[in-house]
Amino acid sequence: MNAPQTIYLKDYTPPSHLVDTVELDIAIHRGFARVTARLAMRRNPASSASALRLDGEELHLEALRLDGRSLPESAYQLDETSLTLADTPDAFVLETVVRIEPDKNTQLSGLYRSKDGYFTQCEAQGFRRITFYPDRPDVMAKFRCTLHADKASFPILLSNGNPVAQGEESGDGNEGRHWATWEDPFAKPAYLFACVAAKLDVLEDYYTTTSGRRVRCAVYVEPGKLDQCDHAIAALKKSMKWDEDVFGLEMDLEHYMIVAVGDFNMGAMENKGLNIFNTKYVLARPDTATDTDYQNIDRVVAHEYFHNWTGNRVTCRDWFQLSLKEGLTVFRDQNFGMDVHSAGVTRIQEVRTLRAAQYPEDAGPMAHPIRPASYAEINNFYTATVYEKGAEVIRMIYTLIGKQAFRKGMDLYFARHDGQAVCCEDFVAAMQDASGLDLTQFQRWYNQAGTPRLVVKSEFDAAAKRYTLTVTQQYPATPYEERMASEGLPQERGPYHLPLVIGLLDAAGKELPLRLAGEAAVQGTQRVLTVREDTQTFVFEEITAEPVPSLLRGFSAPVILDYDYSEAALTHLMAHDTDAVNRWEAGQRLATGILMNGVRMLAAPRPTGWKEAPSDVEVGAATFLPTPWEPAWVPASYTSAIRSLLASAFTPGGDPALVAEALVLPSETYLAEQMEVVDPDAIHAARLALRQHLAQALRADFEAAYARLAIHGPYSPDGEQAGKRALRNVCLGYLAELGDEASNALVVSHYEQAANMTDTMAALGALANLDIAARHTALDSFYTRWKAEALVVDKWLQVQSTSRLPTTTADVRALMAHEAFDIRNPNKVYSLVRAFCAANPKHFHAADGSGYRLAADVILQLDSMNPQVASRIARTFDRWRKFDDTRQGKAREQLERIRVHDGLSSDVAEVVGKALG
Ligand code: TRP
Ligand code: ZN
Repeated sequence: MNAPQTIYLKDYTPPSHLVDTVELDIAIHRGFARVTARLAMRRNPASSASALRLDGEELHLEALRLDGRSLPESAYQLDETSLTLADTPDAFVLETVVRIEPDKNTQLSGLYRSKDGYFTQCEAQGFRRITFYPDRPDVMAKFRCTLHADKASFPILLSNGNPVAQGEESGDGNEGRHWATWEDPFAKPAYLFACVAAKLDVLEDYYTTTSGRRVRCAVYVEPGKLDQCDHAIAALKKSMKWDEDVFGLEMDLEHYMIVAVGDFNMGAMENKGLNIFNTKYVLARPDTATDTDYQNIDRVVAHEYFHNWTGNRVTCRDWFQLSLKEGLTVFRDQNFGMDVHSAGVTRIQEVRTLRAAQYPEDAGPMAHPIRPASYAEINNFYTATVYEKGAEVIRMIYTLIGKQAFRKGMDLYFARHDGQAVCCEDFVAAMQDASGLDLTQFQRWYNQAGTPRLVVKSEFDAAAKRYTLTVTQQYPATPYEERMASEGLPQERGPYHLPLVIGLLDAAGKELPLRLAGEAAVQGTQRVLTVREDTQTFVFEEITAEPVPSLLRGFSAPVILDYDYSEAALTHLMAHDTDAVNRWEAGQRLATGILMNGVRMLAAPRPTGWKEAPSDVEVGAATFLPTPWEPAWVPASYTSAIRSLLASAFTPGGDPALVAEALVLPSETYLAEQMEVVDPDAIHAARLALRQHLAQALRADFEAAYARLAIHGPYSPDGEQAGKRALRNVCLGYLAELGDEASNALVVSHYEQAANMTDTMAALGALANLDIAARHTALDSFYTRWKAEALVVDKWLQVQSTSRLPTTTADVRALMAHEAFDIRNPNKVYSLVRAFCAANPKHFHAADGSGYRLAADVILQLDSMNPQVASRIARTFDRWRKFDDTRQGKAREQLERIRVHDGLSSDVAEVVGKALG
């Protein structure tokens, strides 16, 4: 029972048959749709298999014809997931007619109903829920699609490619119906098919490519929302320009359409010429969307657009190769973000999400390499590892071979593979051939799971003026390797090939010229050290005084860097490093050290009212809070470093956006990963105490900065204005921690005077943590004002589900019964439930198990409705074994309860099965 079947990369075989053309006819009726598919097929010369097996799920077969002749039931085999013909001619046309029920499709995979009409989602395996088909990415065909629907209810009929014909239906029973035919000139795998029949408004614009092709760009949204489309369409045109400028890649179609839908499992989907987006990544107006929303729209629009080349023109041979398109496309959208927004801020945010989401994944029961060797449910592998670590792996190639060689490698990749379905090795081979750098060892990044640890030691020899860095790699096996070994597929392990970008700072904060032993001359002040061995040394000559090393600049590799920095060295880097990521990272390390001291003190049993630090903890805070958790563990030097940091935003060349990032303390999730056994209460208390301490000690500084950063004039989401807002709102956040009358009044006035959603949410977020009357007034007025705007209601739910207040778990339960919540809508579930589980560790990991029970209740309720969403919630249990015995017991109880559930989906079964191990 509930044992999902495992699929292995090593079992790959080429498809038995190829499809040259697909003619689809989709007639949408009240309560059902009829899909007729005409597949022009032939045997694949590369395969010896004779039977033809088509995938199909939840399809009711009405007719089956081969070359025009109806097939008797004896000629085929039909089961729950497939239609098999034992033998076929060499080339033939197979025609199927099936009936499907899109109105009952709550999984949101295949063709489904949403508020304004019908939409599709075919990646990874949704096309088989529309018609019988060899639903695998290495079968590429040219599609022609005709849609039929009621014209008044569904005036817009769209599919991939170009519109070729349309008209009114005639004949009995067809009154008021219309049809439209679309043809896609590019062969594509079925996962890139899309169609839409809906009532939507459209915003149109045009983009002319370098070679003079005029592309119609169109954004389709719910009627009445045209005033929220400007940013998305501008982002699309920016992306088109960027891909031409940076990679020489042009749009290849005359129509590029983006359709926004409120019910969508993920962010967006790159269907050829007809992207379908979660409304969250399209709709924005200054009063409804935050600066972060605007940035995310830029990135997601760019991501899906970039897929047109990295994913669509060159696609994946099989789903194990998912990172071929996702890692590369994330790398591309990151660089787009760095170019159009701010390079430093964008990279810092990337590092933060990588460490918050991907490192725990790599350390948990679902650990897998960016190209896994097996999976049970492919939908479970759209992960931070495949996407984010996948992008880091591409970035390492870029850093190792340099910008020009990387571009040459991309050109070569397209020259070789345009129109093909290929493997990760093909990409690496193009990079290797273009650069001449041997990337054989580098391929380990595709096969090994887990986050490697780089242990760096330094040694200074004053007499010889020599500075030596010794770099050791550690890469212990993960549950992935253990599982593979137990399945008879032991994975080889060895050291990684990676770029370690470094610089050395002298006592004045200046960058030292670098000459490695054996080199004739100095070569700049920043070096890309190539690490390949288990242990390696790098010797720098002519170093006259012991420098402070700035290691892993720009976060040059997805590793855990272990170097024994002194507090003084970190303060030095924080003030002087020329690398924005490392300046930020120094502050994070400093804060992490302090917070971990705090955690140890808070977790240790102690007499009540105990106020002194143990002797092994640095003492020296200038001010003390009158709480039982006095942060005597905060050194005064830290407080003054934070004061200088804040002041640096106002010096010439100062960047408020970077300062805002640096003022955000490491997250509770990040801190949890640093502990052997996680104590979520102590982490929460320590982090809060440090925030309160900084607020008290630097109150005047925060107040002055807050006043100085006020923005006058119209709203713009651009980096400069957003940066100022971010810093101002960080100051507000600290001040809100004071909890006195003056600070509460400031938060309330910020809320009341907010002229955009960024400021509104900053205030509401702070209020949500305060147990004062103004909290309820604000939440009520916010809901009353915005209840018709679904995406804004999502924010309202999330701000409550991530609140610190002790009533939060009960509040979340109550909100699940509120009219604002709908368990069938993924955005609602993500905002209320997933945010609670993933971003509210104190309450999710409550020692009484109430958070775990809430999550399990939702998972079980959702499982049969939408297994993809249920499974994403189930993933929040991943790290359950890192907690104390009591919590582990409570988590296990819920995981077991889910595991034994009757008819559990393969999605949730895989996640829970691996979690329980
Ligand atoms: N390919 C999409 C992207 O990265 C991901 C995606 C969208 C997806 N919808 C999905 C994956 C549904 C699985 C299921 O841009
Ligand atoms: Zn993608």
